[in-house]
Amino acid sequence: MAERWSPDSWRKKPILQVPDYPDARALADVEKQLATFPPLVFAGEARNLKKALAKVAAGDAFLLQGGDCAESFAEHGANNIRDFFRMFLQMAVVLTYAAASPVVKIGRVAGQFAKPRSSPMEKRDGQELPSYRGDIINDIAFTPDARRPDPRRQIEAYRQSAATLNLLRAFAQGGYANLGSVRQWMLGFVKDSPQSRRYVELSDRISEALGFMQACGLDLESHPELKTTDFYTSHEALLLGFEQAMTREDSTRPGTWYATSGHMIWIGDRTRQADHAHIEFARGIKNPLGLKCGPSLKADDLNRLIDILNPENEPGRLTLIGRFGAEKVGEHLPALIRAVKREGKSVVWSCDPMHGNTITSASGYKTRPFDLILKEVRSFFEVHQAEGTYAGGVHLEMTGQNVTECTGGARAITDADLNDRYHTVCDPRLNAEQAIDMAFMLAELLKKERTASAKPMSAAAGL
Ligand code: PEP
Ligand code: CO
Repeated sequence: MAERWSPDSWRKKPILQVPDYPDARALADVEKQLATFPPLVFAGEARNLKKALAKVAAGDAFLLQGGDCAESFAEHGANNIRDFFRMFLQMAVVLTYAAASPVVKIGRVAGQFAKPRSSPMEKRDGQELPSYRGDIINDIAFTPDARRPDPRRQIEAYRQSAATLNLLRAFAQGGYANLGSVRQWMLGFVKDSPQSRRYVELSDRISEALGFMQACGLDLESHPELKTTDFYTSHEALLLGFEQAMTREDSTRPGTWYATSGHMIWIGDRTRQADHAHIEFARGIKNPLGLKCGPSLKADDLNRLIDILNPENEPGRLTLIGRFGAEKVGEHLPALIRAVKREGKSVVWSCDPMHGNTITSASGYKTRPFDLILKEVRSFFEVHQAEGTYAGGVHLEMTGQNVTECTGGARAITDADLNDRYHTVCDPRLNAEQAIDMAFMLAELLKKERTASAKPMSAAAGL
């Protein structure tokens, strides 16, 4: 019998990856203040996302989740958010049209500020300082002042998340996502890229289809699904004091609690110990949850975690995000799939092809070869095909900006190019061109998967 859960019951458990705040009083004051702030998302929205993810679990939709490794205070701005959203829509339309699959869209955005680190300290030229843990905790500059955890940064993270979410909601609901604008979503710098021709062809076909339907007398204006889209937010629930302050009881269903910091939250690969604080916090909130699964996760431990996080086996509640590495996915994923299948558990299987494929380039930058990223995704689909399960989604680190952080892709970014536009404050991201390239490859894989499965296809509703 599980012990009673409360929004602060995690505080009695062992915990990893906690920042060392020098002023406990200041931290408590900030958390108290945050607890009075309005929720960023609402319980009903989180429930809608869970329903959408239940469709993914059933093989009737595909999950596209992605965004920055870490959002940065300095890069917060309307243009970045707009470009990210445009790229996301482009990827989604490629998947929806080319693979005839509805796409559940979840950004790593509007709250993705806290980072787990492999070491609590960083050493440079003989000086040792606390590691950078994300803008919600400290600053990336390598000085003692910048690296000191400052609780007031949580207030700024809240403010930025609220502003980002506000713009995303406006874009998703206010006409920007209108399918009639499919051609305009293409970003300026992608226009002269090798991917643009494929995208233009696809958008022309969509425009033609819309024109045809209109000519047949269908009033497109009266179909909101052609003009708006559902876009959800997510982040790693790492900084539990912040998460607790944003956890609220659902006024329409007393006794149920939601993390209102984002629609979906996930538990990272470093903080998923069954008897530790992060799992304790996550088990009690009703949002859809993600669980990162790396090579060290054993099948029995996974089943134990599933029992804790989804005891009622609710479809859409739990997304397992595998991040094994291109060379390891074939070795680790099948055992996990079989164990979950044996127990009759409903999960969404998603593939994070980023975190298992990080290398240090000859020039010293942390990078990820695009080929390895694609290879892990392909293997993920192959394993699911062999196991008779559904490859439900991907989890990507990507940006709408024209950065040079991952090597390879249509423009063949090399080690030497990384220095040009390497802007990430944490892990290397796909740039918009590489992300759209990925979407075309995914569409092919998904089409194959859906054709191979005996199920009749459900109609792709809107985007
Ligand atoms: C991340 O998603 O940025 C991350 C740190 O992932 P993981 O927990 O899988 O290492
Ligand atoms: Co990352």
